[in-house]
Amino acid sequence: LSVAQVDLEGVEPGSRITLKWKGKPVFIDHRPEARIAQARADDEATLIDPELDAERVQKAEWLIVVGVCTHLGCIPLGQGSGDPTGEYGGWFCPCHGSHYDTSGRIRKGPAPRNLDVPPYEFVTSTLVKIG
Ligand code: FES
Repeated sequence: LSVAQVDLEGVEPGSRITLKWKGKPVFIDHRPEARIAQARADDEATLIDPELDAERVQKAEWLIVVGVCTHLGCIPLGQGSGDPTGEYGGWFCPCHGSHYDTSGRIRKGPAPRNLDVPPYEFVTSTLVKIG
């Protein structure tokens, strides 16, 4: 399907869900305050692919990214509870060791780019349409 729709009501702060869009996983992270603060603080870090957190989200509490490592396309870990989230608290790609931060930005490892932000829009305050 070229469009995926999901209602985020009931997705608690701190939890992450995965949906499929165009055959790829899309990671949705309901970021609690601490995770947002971390992402904003990391705006000041030396970034491999510089982007501000605010440029990557429409609403600070919802980070939405394509869950495909920009190195060679593995699916990073971090969606499941107890998964490793890497050294920067976002996601960790076990294939060759790429670490992504709480904004989905590449911070360490061979991946050249941040996790992609798919096109999306909030249809209501909780209903989001991807694609
Ligand atoms: Fe993710 Fe290589 S595919 S680090």
